[in-house]
Amino acid sequence: MRVGVLTGGGDCPGLNAAIRAVVRKATVTFGDDLVGFRNGWHGVVEDDAIPLDIARCRGILPRGGTILGTSRINPFKVPGGVDRAIATLERRGVEALIAIGGEGTLGISRQMAEAGVPVVGVPKTIDNDVNGTDYTIGFDTAVQVAVEAIDRLHTTAESHDRVMVCEVMGRHVGWIALYSGLAAGAAIVLVPEEPFDLPTVAQHIMRRHEKGRFATIVVVAEGAKPKAGTLELPPAEIDQYDHERLGGIGAIVAGELERLTHLECRVTILGHVLRGGTPTAFDRVLATRFGIAAVEAAHEGSFGTMVALRGSSIELISLDDATGRLKCLDPALIEGVTRIFLD
Ligand code: F6P
Repeated sequence: MRVGVLTGGGDCPGLNAAIRAVVRKATVTFGDDLVGFRNGWHGVVEDDAIPLDIARCRGILPRGGTILGTSRINPFKVPGGVDRAIATLERRGVEALIAIGGEGTLGISRQMAEAGVPVVGVPKTIDNDVNGTDYTIGFDTAVQVAVEAIDRLHTTAESHDRVMVCEVMGRHVGWIALYSGLAAGAAIVLVPEEPFDLPTVAQHIMRRHEKGRFATIVVVAEGAKPKAGTLELPPAEIDQYDHERLGGIGAIVAGELERLTHLECRVTILGHVLRGGTPTAFDRVLATRFGIAAVEAAHEGSFGTMVALRGSSIELISLDDATGRLKCLDPALIEGVTRIFLD
């Protein structure tokens, strides 16, 4: 079988581990031929590809980023894009395409599957918002990087009796904010799922400081929004793929909290640092298991599917179920775990 592989959307640690597992499983177990499309769906539309084999994948397991490159190009938004992509796959004799991506790439994969392309999806995104899988590749690493940073913010915050606002990525969901906030002992976590009210947050902080406790850590997801009518945010820039370019809410929150509490507030924006560097052991193992399962699915002819982690098992779910909606934080989880750390 000839198997194509692509990585699309924002990069994350663990992509190379997944590519390596696909190549090894396909080569060793099935004797397949592999082709890697460059820069996500762009490589399929433009027929820009490289051969992949075990030798090409040596040494990439611990490396962040993706040896294939990535982009957010959507063939459905490029004139003739879908027909060109299908023509590329036919010309190259690709019988299975493994698409490693997040919400955007997997949504395109679902549409391509409907157009007859034999696709298997592999979920990756530091945001962990792909439906139907407990974890996506990259999330664990992003949380680990955030925790290490917040631990460092704690000690400097204590020395100066400051409030430290730490902004993390999380466009539509607050998984990174909540998990890193919990793991690093943040007092307050602001997530996109629950609009925040800064005067209430300020009261909690002042109460903590009146009790003599200092070093308040506030973790805010970049996509967090104030309650309607409480705070005006500047409009976000739009990038070439029609995505809002987020980042900056942390500075606004810190400025407002300083005004409301009269305490010194500082901001740290972790941004793309969360997406770079070497993957954790968890992400390496997850990416490897996903890669192996995706090749097995291709050989079973289970197309239009995505590999998913459910509990400790890897299962196949339909791309329809994976892409119909985002996996948001459960409000009960947010309430249950954040309430006790306010004081
Ligand atoms: O989807 C993952 C993610 O890291 C989001 O958390 C973030 O909003 C977005 O990508 C930023 O992507 P880029 O800077 O590559 O456009």
